[in-house]
Amino acid sequence: MNLPKSKVVFSAEELNARIKELGAQITADLNDGKPIVCVCVLRGAVLFFADLMKYIDSDQVVFDFVTLCSYENALAVGGNMQTTGKIKLIQDMRESVEGKHVLVVEDIVDSGNTVAYLRQYFENKNAIDVKIACLLDKPMTRKVPVDVDYVAFTLERPAYIIGYGLDDDQKYRNLNAIYEMVTD
Ligand code: IMP
Repeated sequence: MNLPKSKVVFSAEELNARIKELGAQITADLNDGKPIVCVCVLRGAVLFFADLMKYIDSDQVVFDFVTLCSYENALAVGGNMQTTGKIKLIQDMRESVEGKHVLVVEDIVDSGNTVAYLRQYFENKNAIDVKIACLLDKPMTRKVPVDVDYVAFTLERPAYIIGYGLDDDQKYRNLNAIYEMVTD
């Protein structure tokens, strides 16, 4: 396979070991006999979701899927133009979440806009609680404060990541490890 210039940041083995730990933690927190609606945020979280689900030891897990799109919006604030990240739901849930646990499974928390939107969205639907799991947290680029309950890995430097569900122009999602694109 031809890849853009990049280096491995987390290998397939590291991903598997860490995701197994997260699954055990989620099981301990949420396996109380009540339904757990696990929501995969398409498309980037799909491989993380598939692997994480195998490590949640509960007969109450149900799967659902959402697709969101984000767009930058120019906004005039006090005479100055600013950009704000807006999120739109383009494919909604099929399951009801009322009276159930919700576990949102996201690929990357970057600005925080997507996760902030989803937490609010599910809290408004009267879930018992809303937990967020993410594969990669990028705290340096946060624009809105968000609580992320389960973080597989944190990246403490600016980087563009591909592989294991994450794309560059829709490509490279099928790589089994996480790569950082490098410019030099
Ligand atoms: P947000 O800015 O926290 O709302 O994140 C929006 C989305 O941007 C994430 O769900 C990812 O799909 C995408 N994203 C952010 N950083 C990267 C990256 O390094 N590689 C691939 N996608 C990214």
